[in-house]
Amino acid sequence: MTMSPEAISDLVHEDLAHLIHPQWYAPDHQAPVIFDHGEGAWLFDVQGRRYLDALSSLWNVAVGHGRGELADVAAEQMRRVAFTNNYVGFSNAPAIRLAARVASLAYDNLSGVFFTNSGSESNEGALKVARFYWNLKGRGSKVKLIARERSYHGGTLATSSMTGLPPFWKYFGPLVPEMVRATKPDNLECDCTPNTDGECAHWLEAAILREGPETVAAFIGEPVKGAGGVWTPSPEYWPRVREICDRYEVLLIADEVITGFGRTGKWFALEHWGVQPDILSLAKAITSAYIPMGAFLVSREIHDALLDLPSDARFMHAYTNSAHPAAAAVGLRNLQIFEDEQLVERAAVLGERLGTGLREALGDHPHVTNLRHLGLIAGLTLVRHAGTGEAYDPAEAVGGRVARHLREQGQVITRFVGDQLVFAPPLVSSEDDIDFLIDATATAIRTVTE
Ligand SMILES: Cc1ncc(COP(=O)(O)O)c(C=O)c1O
Repeated sequence: MTMSPEAISDLVHEDLAHLIHPQWYAPDHQAPVIFDHGEGAWLFDVQGRRYLDALSSLWNVAVGHGRGELADVAAEQMRRVAFTNNYVGFSNAPAIRLAARVASLAYDNLSGVFFTNSGSESNEGALKVARFYWNLKGRGSKVKLIARERSYHGGTLATSSMTGLPPFWKYFGPLVPEMVRATKPDNLECDCTPNTDGECAHWLEAAILREGPETVAAFIGEPVKGAGGVWTPSPEYWPRVREICDRYEVLLIADEVITGFGRTGKWFALEHWGVQPDILSLAKAITSAYIPMGAFLVSREIHDALLDLPSDARFMHAYTNSAHPAAAAVGLRNLQIFEDEQLVERAAVLGERLGTGLREALGDHPHVTNLRHLGLIAGLTLVRHAGTGEAYDPAEAVGGRVARHLREQGQVITRFVGDQLVFAPPLVSSEDDIDFLIDATATAIRTVTE
């Protein structure tokens, strides 16, 4: 539905007056895009303009917009019952079925599923269950969490502390203690192929040794770092991380809030390297964002420890809306769409088209380097000189200007992180949508940088 200029002006006024948005900064909201509706990979605003949703909104609308069947199952389940208590001796059928379904799709070694309402809650729960497990094993000194630079793990205080992007810490300190960063060790000499952001698995090993393995509960990492700029790993990175975690008895938490459910062309991203995590954090595409939901999964071993607690212990971790029946019903139907439309396979095919297309269009561009993708998640770096890798001055805000050109002239909405441009279109995008995205990106980069 389009709106009159007066109605839009009133909305903007009220928005500025009352709505504090995520990552709030008032100038961002002087002339906002106010979305109205969506169809497939496309969004429409209240002025009737359309945009390709090249980040699946926030990496989450995997099955695309306008899926009436997801609205229908939510309505049907809500009519049946508003909500039911899932604590101490109560349950509901959609949540039971979704837990079984997610466990069957995820890594073979994982069996237990705890439902959350967001990725932040999944990661916070992942850390709590890791500490809880070590305490059950009588190793209560294992409390620290090692996390990476350029990682994003959420907006609670603990998950902001895990996050390796300094702007998320500013003015919020002090951060939660016992969070350790895996930084580049001094005088590192190794034969690793670095990840696209320069990191290698020895950064983790050095952090474990520096802290003392007996103090470290877990390591958390996104298989492909997403919100920090889409950084893909080298083929050896995750197998080496798994070996290091095993050697020092550190639990491996895979934060697959973005990469889970087909985004990279496999159901879960560590499948690319034959690695299994001990704990898996999920959210976003579990319901394709039609209703909020997340989950963390635990290994058979951790699950067994939870199933056989001593009489004086209880896993006192809870959210009122954990295992919400309407969210679970939407999750089940959403995963049915994935299977019926073979969206995981489709992500692999479309991802190749996106990666190859971006390379063909921009591989030789003097201001573009480090084109990377895995399945349908991709990133590129804008630089002053591709030959030398010299970066732009941050004050030039080149990434922001390209993203803005894309939105205003190219009809494409995506995000940028400094001078990284990132893409993750819906898994239901058409070949034409992907080609449109490549053309619009090349045009925006040429216009802004040349
Ligand atoms: C990898 C990763 N983990 C965790 C989160 C936090 O999820 P949420 O915003 O649902 O709390 C995000 C959000 O983008 C994410 O990308």
